[in-house]
Amino acid sequence: MFSDRLAQVQRLTQTALDDALAFHPDVPVVHAMRYALQGGKRLRAFLVLESARLHGIYDPDAMPAAAAVEALHAYSLVHDDLPSMDDDDLRRGQPTVHVKWDEATAILAGDALQTLAFELCCDPILGARRIELVAALARASGAGGMVLGQALDIAAETAGAPLTLDEITRLQAGKTGALITFAATAGAILAGADTRPLERYARALGLAFQIADDILDVAGDPAKAGKKLRKDAGAGKATFVSLLGIDGARAKARDLVAQAEAALLAYGARADLLRAAARFSIERQA
Ligand code: IPE
Ligand code: IPE
Ligand code: MG
Ligand code: MG
Ligand code: MG
Repeated sequence: MFSDRLAQVQRLTQTALDDALAFHPDVPVVHAMRYALQGGKRLRAFLVLESARLHGIYDPDAMPAAAAVEALHAYSLVHDDLPSMDDDDLRRGQPTVHVKWDEATAILAGDALQTLAFELCCDPILGARRIELVAALARASGAGGMVLGQALDIAAETAGAPLTLDEITRLQAGKTGALITFAATAGAILAGADTRPLERYARALGLAFQIADDILDVAGDPAKAGKKLRKDAGAGKATFVSLLGIDGARAKARDLVAQAEAALLAYGARADLLRAAARFSIERQA
């Protein structure tokens, strides 16, 4: 069942991340890294492990890649919350890193979480194709991927005119979609298999996931979300909700989930957990 498997992935991922930092120096920046790595749904780790399983690669042999994507994601959240970005004081139900420590520590902890992600991707257990995985993670994270999306997201706050549907799609494909696509194709990359069906799946899932995040901001329960809600409109964020309204955004997200499920046709029942992950991405409360 999806929720059991997600809970298992959460435990495995936390252990792998704890192990990765076990012998690091006892200094504030490392404490801040550990803190930022706690909690989270671990959906990206789930996608790595399930895409690996689909290709006959089982958890121990894919675990460093799952931990890597969560380390990269945690970095992106620490920086996303900074005063110069979204200026948030709550993340995963706890004070954000720059609130708990200070801005310099948050910047440095984010930097080191990013390099940790690449170190994890170099783990020999991932096999000979890990160099391709490193390249894919770099592409997904950088100025053609997550960083691009974040830059477009910040720029949209002060744009003269509202963004078009295509512009918002590009923004969200970068800030959220790129890393989700990396995660969902990681197994195929490691196996040297065709990544295209999983790319189609992930493109739809990533967009649906971010639309759900934008809907949660407007309509979610703050007690369940673990972060401050009702902020996007005031900050001038460009979202599908700002463009299509909440009902339009919900319909779009449902349509995308159907597309994500359809993209998995060739894998048959073996991809049922990935189908469930697509549905979860829009049904979630946090
Ligand atoms: C939050 O990501 C930021 C977005 C890209 C929407 P998640 O909703 O996956 O956050 P965690 O990891 O579960 O805390
Ligand atoms: C964050 O998007 C995306 C990244 C961190 C790359 P949001 O700014 O919408 O995420 P939340 O709402 O703060 O989690
Ligand atoms: Mg943001
Ligand atoms: Mg934010
Ligand atoms: Mg958001």
